[in-house]
Amino acid sequence: VITVPVELGARRYDVLVGAGAIDRLDEVVPARARRAAIVTQAGIPVDVAPPVDSSTLTIRQGEAAKTMSTVEVLCRGFARAGLTRDDVVIAVGGGVVSDVAGFAAAVYQRGIAYVNVATTLLAQVDAAIGGKTGVNIVEGKNMLGAFWQPAGVLCDTEVLDTLPPREYLSGLGELAKYHFLGAEGLEGSPLDERVARCVELKARVVAGDEREGGLRATLNYGHTLAHALEVAGAFDLRHGEAVGIGLVYAALLARSLGRIDDERVAYHRKVVGTYGLPTALPDDSEADALLALMARDKKRRGAELTFVLDGASGIEAVDVPVEVAREVLVAMGAT
Ligand SMILES: NC(=O)c1ccc[n+]([C@@H]2O[C@H](COP(=O)([O-])OP(=O)(O)OC[C@H]3O[C@@H](n4cnc5c(N)ncnc54)[C@H](O)[C@@H]3O)[C@@H](O)[C@H]2O)c1
Repeated sequence: VITVPVELGARRYDVLVGAGAIDRLDEVVPARARRAAIVTQAGIPVDVAPPVDSSTLTIRQGEAAKTMSTVEVLCRGFARAGLTRDDVVIAVGGGVVSDVAGFAAAVYQRGIAYVNVATTLLAQVDAAIGGKTGVNIVEGKNMLGAFWQPAGVLCDTEVLDTLPPREYLSGLGELAKYHFLGAEGLEGSPLDERVARCVELKARVVAGDEREGGLRATLNYGHTLAHALEVAGAFDLRHGEAVGIGLVYAALLARSLGRIDDERVAYHRKVVGTYGLPTALPDDSEADALLALMARDKKRRGAELTFVLDGASGIEAVDVPVEVAREVLVAMGAT
């Protein structure tokens, strides 16, 4: 098991990565905790053994579970279980579970500790780390939330054995993203090392910019279009698949702004393709609809759209005229 620290001063914590990490819950549960509430979903065959008395709350599947009403149900469950401010919430699941359980922990009695036991590849390399928690509203994904750091994260790669192949692929979308953020050349390495390397990269970015002043925005590479494709709802895309398409779009956008050359665009396509992810827009993509959705992105600063783009000085947030964003969508086949 590899220990990756997330250095956040008083809020620092460890991420334990590798086979067997699941047995180390006692190391990440705060010593003062007397009770735990486990939040999970039906169908996640992962058993944890908290070092204190615990009860289990089960939430629904998918984005539909990421709502304020789920947060209320969870908080009522915490109250009925008698959780106090010293106690702990243990999220056992993927990003849906950690986002909503983390947010419930952030608001229950103005904030109690939580631990993430990440059971999807996507959660292990991304969602479980960094303290962004939240839920959706009809107007947009993750529009309500809080920065609330976990007390620790367990990323046991053995629990991924039961993950449906499509969910695994979705996690590979984030690995493809990290490829451009400093995790190149990991293709042949054992999974534990690859996950640990991605966790290190995320930990470093989060430690340098907890509240997304600038650096942390680079973690959204490929995500502006990805979120729009996911919210558009008409496409059958998992998050990581949408990120694959978003990475190729970001590369084409960077090229049309003169930031990178054709060779670098081809390299993006190659990397995304190597991970088995889609590189083309879904049929029936409509430029206007996607632009409207991208305009709601939280990174946006003014009248232009804000994207995270590659370039001579690395990957950074860039304002892009709407017309350029449209042209590139059309060039990728949108109508
Ligand atoms: N907070 C963040 O920083 C952050 C970052 C990235 C993504 N996210 C969020 O994460 C969510 C997506 O997370 P996800 O991709 O993990 O999806 P998910 O949480 O929906 O999990 C995918 C499916 O796999 C099942 N599952 C989980 N672990 C399993 C296991 N070990 N074996 C078998 N089945 C298992 C789940 O029950 C679910 O049906 C999105 O809502 C996204 O917004 C948050």
